[in-house]
Amino acid sequence: MKASQFFIATLKEAPSDAEIVSHRLMLRAGMIKRLGAGIYSYMPMGLRVIRKVEAIIRDEMNRAGAIELLMPVVQPAELWQESGRFQKYGPELMRVKDRHDRDFVIQPTSEEVITDIARQELRSYKQLPKNFYHIQTKFRDERRPRFGVMRGREFTMKDAYSFDRDLESGRRSYQVMSDAYCAIFDRMGLTYRAVAADTGAIGGDVSQEFQVIADTGEDAIVYCPASDYAANIELAEAVAPGQRGVASEPMAKVPTPGKSTCEDVAALLGLPLQRTVKSLVLATDDRNEAGDIVGTKVWLLLVRGDHSLNEVKAGKLPGFKAGWRFATQGEIVDHFGTPPGYLGPIGTVKPVKVIADRTVAAMADFVCGANVADFHLTGVNWGRDLPEPELVADIRNVVEGDASPDGKGVLAIQRGIEVGHVFLLGTRYSAAMNANYLDESGKPQPMIMGCYGIGVTRILGAAIEQNHDDRGIVWPVPLAPFAAVICPIGYDRSDAVRTQADALYARLLSLGVDVLLDDRGERPGAMFADWELIGVPWRVVLSDRGLKEGTAEVQGRRDPAAQAVAVDSVADFLRERLTA
Ligand SMILES: Nc1ncnc2c1ncn2[C@@H]1O[C@H](COP(=O)(O)OP(=O)(O)O)[C@@H](O)[C@H]1O
Ligand SMILES: [Mg+2]
Repeated sequence: MKASQFFIATLKEAPSDAEIVSHRLMLRAGMIKRLGAGIYSYMPMGLRVIRKVEAIIRDEMNRAGAIELLMPVVQPAELWQESGRFQKYGPELMRVKDRHDRDFVIQPTSEEVITDIARQELRSYKQLPKNFYHIQTKFRDERRPRFGVMRGREFTMKDAYSFDRDLESGRRSYQVMSDAYCAIFDRMGLTYRAVAADTGAIGGDVSQEFQVIADTGEDAIVYCPASDYAANIELAEAVAPGQRGVASEPMAKVPTPGKSTCEDVAALLGLPLQRTVKSLVLATDDRNEAGDIVGTKVWLLLVRGDHSLNEVKAGKLPGFKAGWRFATQGEIVDHFGTPPGYLGPIGTVKPVKVIADRTVAAMADFVCGANVADFHLTGVNWGRDLPEPELVADIRNVVEGDASPDGKGVLAIQRGIEVGHVFLLGTRYSAAMNANYLDESGKPQPMIMGCYGIGVTRILGAAIEQNHDDRGIVWPVPLAPFAAVICPIGYDRSDAVRTQADALYARLLSLGVDVLLDDRGERPGAMFADWELIGVPWRVVLSDRGLKEGTAEVQGRRDPAAQAVAVDSVADFLRERLTA
């Protein structure tokens, strides 16, 4: 590619609403252009990277035996009604109507369509297993689209779907995909972790996320440096602590005027935060068949003052699976006789069901709200001052230093960007949509499905979060829009420079190197700044001065300085490094 025939549009400054470095750099490097909230045009430079990402994914998916097809972006609602997702999917699902007032969705994923294809096409056990995938535009009307391609509303995903005859075979297909994902992210040169992920209703150890490690990641990932334990914090278990301590203080009601947080109360009383207990009031609504609310239960969840509630774990508590919410101010006053800030399990106005985190259940002589404004209770003990909790459960987020659930050390936490997700679905869709095959005895059996997503466009953002410096992007070679750029100084005025640059360009192309010749005749400073911002891994500078010595200056994007390489050997020099 020659710069004069391509489109390069770099910016000195990024728009001020770009919060994280990858978003800023992608805008500045002219890779994306914003059209609306969470909606971007992929500009020529960005599209080259997307195509490289797709090529790696395609190659590894095909190698793993998956078969490419392409399903529509706009899908009739009927299939979504059949699976139940038309009703259940929240406002993220873009629902549209056609001119005949018929409902459609813009696909956020394609389980329904692929299941519909499978039930028509895969009729016999002899046709299984099969794995179909496509790389297609997705739309999710995200509540908070942000960080550019990282959380867009329109984005590109590779989604694959496996069909197997039984669970054992389904697990094998899942494992093949999990291995393919490792191969994909290894090839991309990303630092990532495969972590156990929440599986929602299905349960079991059958879902993993592939998380690119980056401080700006939206996910907290928990791992044990002493073992291979790794899980999303949504899932990571906080193991039960040891025996409860012995009660040694009498319970006392102490004034804590204006101190409504555990931190403030602990500071006022001169106690460690770990002696306090935080009260969270949740509500669950009972509904009749028509979906009307016919009753509401109010629950008090207790976590240690320095811990936080894990909302995914809360959603799995008995009585919470149909959904829960935080109680309203009115419900709280109604049950506790006081607004939030001084709530606790003792002396409520109306009975509430108490669920204690495992850690809280093991506490003695703790501090909690007195259900009277400006007062707390100290020296509170289970069994003596209040009944044992109705339920003891793991309802908190783990923290650094907690024991690892595998018993092999303590946990550490880092941030991650979810770039891939593999999921053994079981019969969730095949049962709802009657996707059956006939087994050896001619009996219909539901197919076991798995689904596997990769955020194609998100990978650009994730790769940049991991690979940049103060001058710009530092693409891993396999993702770079160009592997190398030739920067001739004085291309427009020096015959020697132009002749050598053209010759090197032709030679590199013939060697299969993805090279760009910057024939714009820009000043060296501006030219170098552009390519450092865009993040091209190798730069070759040709100048009259260097050519007098018979050399070019070659510099890797991460190298502190350029090295002089004989003009004749530049092509081999680069080819060697690019294929290393
Ligand atoms: N809004 C988005 N913008 C960009 N990529 C996304 C977005 N939502 C999901 N992805 C990508 O698609 C992959 C599969 O999505 P999925 O697991 O269904 O999403 P989620 O984890 O948000 O439910 C994710 O791992 C992520 O890489
Ligand atoms: Mg996911």
